[in-house]
Amino acid sequence: MFNSVTVSEKGKGVVVVGHFKGQGLDRLSKRAAPQAGVAGALKRKEATGDVGRIVEAWINPRSRVIIVGLGEKSACTPQTLRDAAAAVGRRLAASKDDAATLALSGPAAQAGIDAAVAGEAIGEAIGLLSWSCDEFRGSATPKPERTDLAIRSDDRAMTSGMKAGLQIAAGVNLARTLSQTPPNIATPSWMAAQARKLARATGLKARIVEGDELETERMTGLINVGKASENKPCLIRLEYTPKSAKARAAKPLVLVGKTITYDTGGLSLKINNMMVGMKRDKDGGCAVLGAMHTIATLIKPDFPVVGLLAAAENCISDEAYRPDDVIRYRNGVTVEVTNTDAEGRLVLADALIWACEVEKPRAIIDLATLTGGVITALGSTYAGLFCDNDQLRGAVECAAAGSGELVWRLPYSHAEYRDMMKSPVADIVNSNPNRKAHATQGAAFLANFVHKDVPWCHLDIAGVHVAEKNAGMYIDGPTGWGTRLLTHLIRSMNHA
Ligand code: BES
Ligand code: MN
Ligand code: ZN
Repeated sequence: MFNSVTVSEKGKGVVVVGHFKGQGLDRLSKRAAPQAGVAGALKRKEATGDVGRIVEAWINPRSRVIIVGLGEKSACTPQTLRDAAAAVGRRLAASKDDAATLALSGPAAQAGIDAAVAGEAIGEAIGLLSWSCDEFRGSATPKPERTDLAIRSDDRAMTSGMKAGLQIAAGVNLARTLSQTPPNIATPSWMAAQARKLARATGLKARIVEGDELETERMTGLINVGKASENKPCLIRLEYTPKSAKARAAKPLVLVGKTITYDTGGLSLKINNMMVGMKRDKDGGCAVLGAMHTIATLIKPDFPVVGLLAAAENCISDEAYRPDDVIRYRNGVTVEVTNTDAEGRLVLADALIWACEVEKPRAIIDLATLTGGVITALGSTYAGLFCDNDQLRGAVECAAAGSGELVWRLPYSHAEYRDMMKSPVADIVNSNPNRKAHATQGAAFLANFVHKDVPWCHLDIAGVHVAEKNAGMYIDGPTGWGTRLLTHLIRSMNHA
């Protein structure tokens, strides 16, 4: 929607103020927009005060004030500010304005939201709104014209919060651009090249496990799932190391991302158009890369963070792995493959084993577009959260509330779920052929590859990684879901 968005102290541009339902402007808002016409505009019937409802007051033929509704004061949260800012951003894009002052410090204070937190929410929303990906347009369609937007606020802390919000959005937008990239370009080795590029730009360390090394490291899932494709699988490892020696010695947080660059289902082929959109089966990994970006450029926590992307293409050929195969993992667990379309858990298993054995982590969070079942259960409103460690779950739920990327807890460790994954020929199956608890089955499978004493959280993002409509902060397409939640989480762990 914009060519670029920056925070700039130059030029006021359009002044934007906010009001709560049934209320006029507070003192600070009046100071930002003192003109009589503004109070008059608020009396118009269209000024309902609903979140994101906009009325405009023309001060003279060249300048106007935008008044945005913020809903009920008692219900105003950072998410309300994101929604309102997105509505304002959409209006500014339509009117092709190039500068705006979002003078929302008064309402934020009234709602009890810290100015920096409010600014960050606003920056996130406008930054997310600015995402576009024209790279794959050709000569038959015109490139849409977009303006460069400069934003500021009426409060110093809020303005620096806006800068942070834009930086977080940059991480999310990186994840979205990777998601959008088609599977004939975005192969596992292309993803590795993007990770290397990110590492070079932000000072992260990158390592790729590929080729023969996959064999020596016994990456059973990646080798088998990736066998049928010319685009060879790899494990991508990124590391953020903090500055101080003491912080370096701390145990790392490990972020694991399912990175299936295309999911045909393999020999258990996807039918009835279910394959369309499976270029986005890499979005767990994309979210991890987005988070590594914000970690390296903005959060810079006092403990190491490792990102692990299990990257493979799930394809068919005479070399494909098959239903009935039994495969043996590095930790000794054997798996009977009952369905080659339950491939995500097979590659994640390698990354989880590696995380526990090699990284000695303080905690592991994995993100995966793992099951259609979670879409049935939760729709696009919440991601499925599987975590039986109270402390880690509490922290993830807090980060979800703060970021607006919502999660809902589902179970996985009941003995009946573990029994469901038992195999008559190997230790476990990768999928039980019944129709029960598919999202939970995925988590119950993964639990076999995590050490009991390592806090672990699995997020099934199959319902939330793409937006269906052009509304709010998102246009229809990838949401980069997870980058913001992880950013908020790591910041909270840093302060803990
Ligand atoms: N990548 C899919 C899950 C998915 C479905 C993501 C729809 C996004 C939208 C996953 O690999 C898959 O195929 N899961 C199967 C598992 C089943 C065969 C046990 C599913 O959920 O149907
Ligand atoms: Mn699949
Ligand atoms: Zn998949």
